[in-house]
Amino acid sequence: MAVIRSVIRGVGAHLPKRIMTNDDISKIVDTTDEWIVERSGIRQRHIAGDDELTSTLGIAAAHKALVRAGIDPTDIDLVICATATPDKTFPATAVKIQAGLGITRGCAFDVQAVCSGFVYALTIADNFLKAGQAKRAVVVGAETFSRILDWTDRATCVLFGDGAGAVVLEAQPQHGTREDRGILATRIRSDGRYEDLLYVDGGPGSTKTVGHLRMNGREVFRHAIQKISGVMEEVLVMTGYAPDEIDLYIPHQANARILDGIAKKLNVSPDKIVMTLSKHGNTSAASIPLALNHAFEEHRVKEGSLVMLEAMGGGFTWGAVLARW
Ligand code: UT7
Repeated sequence: MAVIRSVIRGVGAHLPKRIMTNDDISKIVDTTDEWIVERSGIRQRHIAGDDELTSTLGIAAAHKALVRAGIDPTDIDLVICATATPDKTFPATAVKIQAGLGITRGCAFDVQAVCSGFVYALTIADNFLKAGQAKRAVVVGAETFSRILDWTDRATCVLFGDGAGAVVLEAQPQHGTREDRGILATRIRSDGRYEDLLYVDGGPGSTKTVGHLRMNGREVFRHAIQKISGVMEEVLVMTGYAPDEIDLYIPHQANARILDGIAKKLNVSPDKIVMTLSKHGNTSAASIPLALNHAFEEHRVKEGSLVMLEAMGGGFTWGAVLARW
């Protein structure tokens, strides 16, 4: 039976110019390159300059994705930006990205699911496309987390960085089988009981400030492997694939030890798991499209590749998307 699927036509990414190494950070807080690498796998992160905003990073990433897709921005009728660090409280950063790309039709809005934001945004875009409410979408994950970090808190400031990534989706008729191209299954979850483990201690409606990121890393770590594996298993059951039939896992890049733990739990070879966090740290909603872009540029993702995207973040929120490139 013919169905509409959201086919990924292009991917792009953009990182700020300025790089901050672990040694650079050890001059600001009491830490070492050795501790950061051993506990997280991170070696450096990119930090946005005064002339760089979440929207400008997002525009650059989306522009590259559109060029690769060979699609003119004026043919886009949906722009979704996943971000927890919008340029302003409003308007949505997605609207600025829409304008920056020269798009004046359709709609644009932000999605706030922190590190799971890209998985949430892809799921929403997929539903718009399948429902016939849009034909071509740009889905962006963009963050300037450096601006909500407490640069005196060594337990958090060493982990995060800035960046953006984007994909272009197009609604295309497919056969309705698991061999189709495009997004095959999505599952998103949340549980607000865990707010206190990962949150920002400010906001326009409470403190009237932006606030700083606060995290109980050890507790988040404890939940991550179990929740992420669980949601991936659900998506595998929905499509009837076994973990080792997936060509590539493109996870949220928070901690190398979490990714190793997931590989062990699902019994998949670690070389099927794309790891880019050593180069840019945890970039929240941007990290999956940054990793996807890396895998594409390394020719590890090509037409027909079966890719699993997954994330967990503040809220807690978590989710997974299975797609065939
Ligand atoms: O993206 C959203 C999801 N986020 C995550 O998935 C993050 C999950 N959590 C983690 O990745 C890890 O828990 C961390 C990398 C954040 C921390 O690793 P850990 O092995 O859980 O360390 P810990 O928090 O248990 O801290 C161990 C020790 C503590 O000292 P004591 O109490 O044992 O004396 C910390 O004070 O390491 C100390 N510490 C540091 N030492 C040097 C904490 N941060 C640092 C630091 N440099 N930057």
